[in-house]
Order: sequence, then C-alpha cells, then structure tokens
Amino acid sequence: PAKVRIHHLQQAKRDGTRFAMLTAYEQYTAEIFDAAGIEVLLVGDSASNNVFGNETSLPVTVDELLPLCRAVARSAKRALVVADLPFGSYEVSAEQAVSAGVRFLKEGLAHAVKIEGGQYYAPTVRAMVQAGIPVMAHIGFTPQSEHALGGYRVQGRGDDAQRLIDDARALAEAGAFCVLMEMVPAETAAAIDAAVEVPTVGIGAGKATTGQVLVWQDMAGLRGGRMAKFVKQYADLRTTLLDAATAYGDDVRSGQFPGPEHSF
Ligand code: KIV
Ligand code: NA
Repeated sequence: PAKVRIHHLQQAKRDGTRFAMLTAYEQYTAEIFDAAGIEVLLVGDSASNNVFGNETSLPVTVDELLPLCRAVARSAKRALVVADLPFGSYEVSAEQAVSAGVRFLKEGLAHAVKIEGGQYYAPTVRAMVQAGIPVMAHIGFTPQSEHALGGYRVQGRGDDAQRLIDDARALAEAGAFCVLMEMVPAETAAAIDAAVEVPTVGIGAGKATTGQVLVWQDMAGLRGGRMAKFVKQYADLRTTLLDAATAYGDDVRSGQFPGPEHSF
C-alpha cells in the first residue's frame, strides 16, 4: 500500500474523513500497528515514562529517542513516522530546534517531528519548515510543561479557549502541517479544528479532530495503574503477559518445560 504522506492527512481534513495515530517505540509494535493500517506512528517522548521507567516525559533525551525512532521507521512500511523533540532540545532557539529536527530526520529516519508549545513557537516552526522538516504542533496540555502548568489539567476551558485558537492559527500560519491538542474540552477542540485548514489530532479532545492518538500501552492495556479519562483500553496485554510469564516460570520450576519436543 502507498506510503502515508502529509498530503494524505491534509486530504482527510478536506474530505471530512478521519485517521488514526498510535505511539510506537520499537520494531514489533511498529510492524503490527502499520499492518493494522494505523496511519501515523508517533515515537513519543512518552517513551520516557513508558519505556525508560521515568515518572514524567521530562528526563528523556534526543540520544535516547533516536535509536527507538530508527527502529520504528525501519519497521513501518506505510505509516507516517513522527518523532517528538524532547524537553530541552528545541526551546532555546530556532537554530537549536532545526539542529534537533535534522538529527531526527537524518539519524532517526523520521518523516516529521512534533514540538510542544503555543504561538511563541511560530518562528521556530517557520525556521524548521524552511529547513525541510515537517512539524506537527502540540498545544493544549503539553506534558513537558507539567510543572509550569501545575499538573495534568484540562486547558482551554471557557475564556481560555481563545488562547488555544490563537495558538493553533499562529502555528498553522507558520507552516505546521498538523495541530495536535491534548486535554481540551470537546467544544474548544471543535472551534480550534474549525479555525485552521490543517488537519488536527486529539487526545482527550473530543471527536471533532481529524485524527485521534493514544499511547499504545494505554490502548492495549500493557501499562498498569490508573488510566486517564480519555483512554479506551482495547486489550489487556498486562494480564496476558503476566499469565504467560507465570505459566512459564511454573513449568520451568516443575520440570514441565522443556519437554522432549523442545529438546535435541
Ligand atoms: O509523547 C506522546 O505520546 C504524545 C502523545 C500522546 C500526543 O505526545
Ligand atoms: Na509527547
């Protein structure tokens, strides 16, 4: 099947159709989600707290994310591969952002990158796009700013909606090919989607956006603990793997495994 390109996502917005996005951080999930027809794979900085064992997305580095990105890009045949620029890799200047973006396209084999932040980052987006780096903008609740925002809180409620509409417009105007919004009231998200011509992606942002994204370990029930309200769990991989590992351990201890059929 033909590779998913940015213009296909833009066509979806014009046609009023939807596309799906999931995070992926390595080979098998990239292969499986690609085979399932997921249009966009995100090598999220959520690898920080879903792969590397950190509590937040803040500690993960470019050098840690690049090999994950390369694995996903090599393994996906059709999906568009987007990489997050992690905290600290793009905030200082447009030059810093272009350098980080180049690394993700050159060393990570990503097709596009995502940065968090509002209209303040419009000049950064413009510089990156000029350099040939497609940029997805991430507005609303931006996890890298968790401490500045005072925790995981819905953004763009009531009078605050206009701020996010202005952010989306400025970032799209600067050349962002897509605007992702996280934890935004459905009504605000619909207004943002209507305010820009580019496709939008939502997570905890209702159903008016062109696309939806979830962290795959949440979607497939691999992660334990409390799930955010916006997560729908489509499988229970944690239980499946716990049962498999428990059965294997029991078989080894009891001498049931390996059997003659596993022996030379
Ligand atoms: O890092 C991530 O997984 C993300 C999405 C959930 C939007 O940025
Ligand atoms: Na992210």
